[in-house]
Amino acid sequence: MQPLIVPSVLSADFSRLGEACVELERAGADRLQWDVMDGHYVPNLTFGPEVIASCRDLVSCEFEAQLMCDRPEELLPRYAEAGCDWIIVHPETLRQPHRTYQHIRELGCRVGVGLSPATPVMVLEHVLDLVDMVLVMTVSPGFGGQEYLVSMEPKIARVRAMIDRSGHEIDIEVDGGINPSTITGAAHAGANVFVSGSSIAAADDQAAAIKELRRLAATAG
Ligand code: DX5
Repeated sequence: MQPLIVPSVLSADFSRLGEACVELERAGADRLQWDVMDGHYVPNLTFGPEVIASCRDLVSCEFEAQLMCDRPEELLPRYAEAGCDWIIVHPETLRQPHRTYQHIRELGCRVGVGLSPATPVMVLEHVLDLVDMVLVMTVSPGFGGQEYLVSMEPKIARVRAMIDRSGHEIDIEVDGGINPSTITGAAHAGANVFVSGSSIAAADDQAAAIKELRRLAATAG
């Protein structure tokens, strides 16, 4: 599988979000990640559905919304309507995970299951038939610019082994501290989709930064 690079909008200049989305797509982003935070599940507040909707028609690439919120079930239709192609939820925030994943599919979106660092991979058992992507967080969710947790690499490998045994086509996305010096370890462990915020945002040439991340992931072996 060709590695995908998914810039996080969390690191963009919020005073010019629309232009930032256009620039990231032009720079070669495979899709864009919106980190949705409610100040409860994580200690930060970010994007409502209207913010995402306001940028939807500026670009044609896919949007994924990572709902780091309490009771995300109540928000699913609004983020689907806002134009998100993928919706990622964290099992700890769900009353009925199986039903929630079904609901995301019924809304026409792809299902992502987000695993915070301490969340065990066993939460994936019994639901892999409903999952399109497993997001292994390589930081504790809430903020960009954090240090990559190399201790998550064995977890990535376990998820990869679980998916391979299941026979389902499921991506493994990693998110948190992904940059040229950490992406190789995550790719080698089994990830094939890479979210990167501050590393790409800090680059003078975002297209070159995205290209280099993709090259490093593809040659990780
Ligand atoms: C944490 C966020 C960040 C963001 C990427 O909740 O999910 O991981 O997307 O930020 P960087 O690449 O700066 O760690």
